[in-house]
Amino acid sequence: MKVTSATFISSFSDVAKCPAPDKAEFAFIGRSNVGKSSLINMLTNVRKLAKTSVTPGKTQTINHFLINETWYLVDLPGYGYANVSKSTRQGFGKMIEDYVMKRENLYCLFILLDSRLPPQNIDLTFIEWAGSKEIPVALVFTKVDKLKANELQKNLAQYKKALLTRWEELPPLFLTSSEKAFGRDELLEFMDGAMKDSNGPDAGNK
Ligand code: GTP
Ligand code: MG
Repeated sequence: MKVTSATFISSFSDVAKCPAPDKAEFAFIGRSNVGKSSLINMLTNVRKLAKTSVTPGKTQTINHFLINETWYLVDLPGYGYANVSKSTRQGFGKMIEDYVMKRENLYCLFILLDSRLPPQNIDLTFIEWAGSKEIPVALVFTKVDKLKANELQKNLAQYKKALLTRWEELPPLFLTSSEKAFGRDELLEFMDGAMKDSNGPDAGNK
């Protein structure tokens, strides 16, 4: 699939205020700084479409981007960012939880994982929670340019092992580097396939 246009629609602090759920939607979630916003820029090939930062906690709202005039990519705030106050953190938690649970046109929630790290409890907990709510998920390992092939394989094997103790089968899994545009075609094809397989937004989450 080719991305021919990508437009920022708006930021929302509440799922109830998001655009009408009449288009297919794919969202990115994961720990702060894992590379969610960078991945959106990489996929759309627009460098500064989503705001990125070296400091965690950059994205604090639900951000909709309209792609090819027909479907949405959504940038979400990170979870597990320790340096914001507890009340703010719980706010992020609720915003994310509400979005994931209530967004009826959500075709797939991409859960981003830092490929440089061994399995992190917070990520495993989030994956398990999304699974328990029957949210369609896929896993995206980010920043693969930052480690050697053997280190990547080691971390991947550990993740798969940890997931298979809780899941019968693994969700779809992608390896990406926003720096090198690695994994772009695979992700776009996956989204294209998900849209072609369904009969419209109602075939999404709910
Ligand atoms: P929050 O909005 O704070 O939750 O973070 P985020 O998940 O949106 O992360 P963001 O895209 O802002 O990226 C965080 C940092 O990681 C930035 O400095 C990016 O340049 C860097 N980064 C993201 N993806 C990659 C990647 O694939 N490779 C490398 N080398 N750096 C990356
Ligand atoms: Mg961000």
